[in-house]
Amino acid sequence: MGIELEVRKGESVAEAAWRLGYIWPTLCWGQADCVVCFTKIVGGEVCAQPMEEVESDAIRFKMPPRLRTDRTVRLACQLKVTGDDLVVEKRGVRLVEQEDNNMISEADESVDESERERS
Ligand code: FES
Repeated sequence: MGIELEVRKGESVAEAAWRLGYIWPTLCWGQADCVVCFTKIVGGEVCAQPMEEVESDAIRFKMPPRLRTDRTVRLACQLKVTGDDLVVEKRGVRLVEQEDNNMISEADESVDESERERS
């Protein structure tokens, strides 16, 4: 099953996922340190911004050897996009359960409004 994320200008793929309420695996929350956020580009690679040094160093020094040389591997916390066609693969990405984030969405509030109007 796939999900579609709207990634804002200057935002990484993982940051977009976190902003939109998804769990994207991490231990360092975007510091290019844990490499847990790593993802594989499976399509639209022309829409991926080239790696900067912090990302390439993390991949070179912290990734397992079999992934270091895979040119489709990127750190989602550093991966920025330039177009709509980038497709990446990542296990463990899912929407945060409502009970987990303890937040009320606008949709929840509008339901409350309509219920109030009926009573
Ligand atoms: S979130 Fe830790 S390296 Fe990307």
